[in-house]
Amino acid sequence: MVAQPARSAEAACSEAQYEFIVSDAPNVVFQAGAGAGKTWAGVCKALLNARRSPGSRGMFVAPSFPQLQQAVMPHLLTLGGDMGLLTLWDWQKQQNRIVLPNGSEFWLRSADNPAALLGADLAWCVGDEVALWKRQAYDYLMGRLRQPGYPHQAAFTFTPKGRNWCWEVLGVEREGLEIIRASTFTNPFLEDDYHERLRREYGEGTQLWQQEVLGEYVAWEGLVYPQFGVDTHIIEPPADIVTAVGGVDWGWTNPGVMLVLGVAADGTFHVLHETYEREQPIEWWAAEAQRLTARYGVSEWHCDPSEPGNIRALKVAGVEAVAANNAVVPGIAAVSARIASRELLLAPQCVETVRELQAYCWKTRPDGTQRKDEPEKHNDHAMDALRYAVMALTVVKRRGYVRSW
Ligand SMILES: Nc1ncnc2c1ncn2[C@@H]1O[C@H](COP(=O)(O)OP(=O)(O)OP(=O)(O)O)[C@@H](O)[C@H]1O
Ligand SMILES: [Mg+2]
Repeated sequence: MVAQPARSAEAACSEAQYEFIVSDAPNVVFQAGAGAGKTWAGVCKALLNARRSPGSRGMFVAPSFPQLQQAVMPHLLTLGGDMGLLTLWDWQKQQNRIVLPNGSEFWLRSADNPAALLGADLAWCVGDEVALWKRQAYDYLMGRLRQPGYPHQAAFTFTPKGRNWCWEVLGVEREGLEIIRASTFTNPFLEDDYHERLRREYGEGTQLWQQEVLGEYVAWEGLVYPQFGVDTHIIEPPADIVTAVGGVDWGWTNPGVMLVLGVAADGTFHVLHETYEREQPIEWWAAEAQRLTARYGVSEWHCDPSEPGNIRALKVAGVEAVAANNAVVPGIAAVSARIASRELLLAPQCVETVRELQAYCWKTRPDGTQRKDEPEKHNDHAMDALRYAVMALTVVKRRGYVRSW
C-alpha cells in the first residue's frame, strides 16, 4: 500500500492557544486556568511538531498515566482524526510510541516515573500540567533535548499550583522563554455551565479563583497544610501495605470523592487511590466502593455522615460503611501532623487530592487575619475524605490493630 500524505486540516482555536501552538521560542509555556484548552493545545502542538519535522523525535508527557489515558488520549484521537492520521500512523501501544509516515516519532510518557523519561535524544517535548510534576522529571526531560540536526523546543502547559519550583523556573519571562497567559474564559469551546460551576466551587475573587480560573501564581496565605509539597510527599506506594480504609465525601454538582488510604508496614500512611467524579448516582458510588474494596482490600469506608441514606446504600451493596468522625479541627490536626512528619504520602495519580492540598485555606476574617479553626468551604472535597480516612486509621492505630491486621 502506498502511504497517503496526511491531509491538511483547519482547526479553530483561541488566540492564546494559537500563540502557543505557533511559537518557536526554545521554551514556551501556556500558563492558563482550568479548562482553558491547555491539553488540547499541547496535543495539537505535538502533532504539528511531528508532522512538520520529518525524522524528528519527541515526547508528550502527562503528570500521571491515568491522566495520559483520560485527558490526553481523547484529544490525540480527535486531532489525529482531524489531521487524517488515524490510518497512517503506527501507534505502538506496548511502547506508547507513535510513528508517523514521515519518519518522525514520539513517545507518550508520564512524569510520575522520572527515570522513564531518560533514553533517546529528542528534538521536542510537550509537558502537560507541569506544575504537578516533580522537579526531577522536568530536569530529566530538559536534559534530553539534543537530537542532532533539529531545532529544539520544550513546551509546557499548566495551571500554576502556588509558588513551587515551577514558578521559579517557568514563572518569569527570560531570554528564550515565552509565556502565554490565559484565563479559563478565553476558551470559547466551554459550555456556560462550566463557568458557573467554577464560580460555585472556587468562589469568585478568592485565591483559589485567582489560581484555578485566572491561571495566576498565588503566594498562598493561610494554607491549612503548608508543609505539603509535590517534591516531598508524592511517591509510588510500597508493596507492603498491611491495611486499607476508605474515606468518602458525597457530591453531586460538587465532586464526590472516594479515597483509599493504606498503612505500610513501617506505619506510614499512603493515599493509594482517588475517585473524583461529579453527577454520579449513589448506585454508581456503591459499585465503585465494591470495586475498590476488592482491589485494595478496604476494611471499612468512613463516609461523610450528612447522608445516612448513602451510607445505607453502600451497606446494602455489601460494603462495610460507617459514618465518619467529622470533628474538623482534630481531623485537620491529625492530617497536618502526618504531613509535617512525612508519614502521609500520596500516589502520583491522586492529582485532584494533590491540587486540593496545595490550595486548602483557612477562612479569612473581615480584618484580613486568618481563623485557624475553620477552613474555607471551597476546594475541600478530597480534603474531607482524606480527613475521614486519616482519623479512622489514627483510631485503628491507637488501638494497636494495624500491625496485626
Ligand atoms: N481549539 C479547540 N477546539 C475545539 N475544542 C476545544 C479546543 N480547545 C479546547 N477545546 C475543548 O475545551 C475543553 C477543555 O479543553 P482542555 O481539556 O484542553 O482544557 P485544559 O485546560 O487542559 O483543562 P484541565 O484544566 O481540566 O486540564 C475540552 O472539551 C476540549 O475538547
Ligand atoms: Mg488538561
